[in-house]
Amino acid sequence: MKILITGAKGMLAQAVRERFLRDAEGAENELVLTDVVPGEIEVTHGETVEKLATIGLDITDFEAVSRVISEARPEVIINCAAYTNVDAAELNAELAEKINADGPANLAKMAKEAGAVLVHISTDYVFGGIKPVTEEYSEDDPKEPQSVYGITKLHGEEKIAENTDRFYIFRTAWLYGQGKNFVRTMLTVAEGRDEVTVVNDQHGSPTYAEDLADIIYQAVSKNIPFGIYNATNLGFTTWAEFTEEIYRQAGVNCKVVGVSSEEYEQQAMARAAEKGEEYKVAPRPKNSQMSKQKLADAGIAIRHWSPALAEYLRREGKLIK
Ligand SMILES: NC(=O)c1ccc[n+]([C@@H]2O[C@H](COP(=O)([O-])OP(=O)(O)OC[C@H]3O[C@@H](n4cnc5c(N)ncnc54)[C@H](O)[C@@H]3O)[C@@H](O)[C@H]2O)c1
Repeated sequence: MKILITGAKGMLAQAVRERFLRDAEGAENELVLTDVVPGEIEVTHGETVEKLATIGLDITDFEAVSRVISEARPEVIINCAAYTNVDAAELNAELAEKINADGPANLAKMAKEAGAVLVHISTDYVFGGIKPVTEEYSEDDPKEPQSVYGITKLHGEEKIAENTDRFYIFRTAWLYGQGKNFVRTMLTVAEGRDEVTVVNDQHGSPTYAEDLADIIYQAVSKNIPFGIYNATNLGFTTWAEFTEEIYRQAGVNCKVVGVSSEEYEQQAMARAAEKGEEYKVAPRPKNSQMSKQKLADAGIAIRHWSPALAEYLRREGKLIK
């Protein structure tokens, strides 16, 4: 199978590259890697590491998207490119819209022309997050994004659906994988400290990038029905409880003190003001709990977030318990 990946240097893309390098029988898939800046990327598969070239491709440039896809003729396009800085998007709405909405529109148009399936990643932030925490969001619930990032990601979903029928959109949340991420940050901030403060009023599902890559792999190889799917690890928690579990599994002795989103925002704004920086904290959904029933009905198995975290920590050499 020939697969073109955009944003191929990103966190999720790393897991997608590894998962799609070979098919279930071990035969090599042909990967066409692209990102804004070209260069080589290392792809690990078991004991082997392969160096693959990355083509320069800005997904907001329709001419470039058209040329690269026409030349490559992929069967599947996986869009891992996005404007992902949620707070910075509040002050850079135009750029976020270009990357998160116009880019996916370009890819959808060309996917249709090339006869390729388009896989795109969206977010829990398309929902308002105002349901009581005893309830979950299903795919068709009303979309009420509260942040610029959420609005631009919703526009991306809409533009894909307007331009092609053969698409999968996976709405994920609280993603961590190789490179800089929440888990690594919380392990670093605990060094030399007795306690950390973490938000305790946002509810959602931490999601291991490798597990999301596997969901994408299963969906594509099993040809599940096209459409939009919620796609996170199973189970729900808060950022504070997630941090406690990170410390428990990694054997870190650091107390987690819960704070509200409002307190966290005041602290972040005060830190930015001290540095004289212009900053805005984007509103985040209090309830990001998404039902995965639709994926289950399509025959896709997902594991709970806690064993997924253990596997990540084992890979990082940090798992103790
Ligand atoms: N990280 C999370 O917690 C989270 C949560 C929900 C949804 N998502 C979604 O998951 C997807 C993957 O997120 P990630 O955390 O791996 O992202 P990331 O920020 O690690 O990677 C994004 C990649 O996109 C590339 N990119 C940016 N602008 C581009 C452009 N104009 N053209 C081509 N490439 C461009 C970047 O160079 C980078 O390699 C995104 O769609 C994101 O919105 C992420």
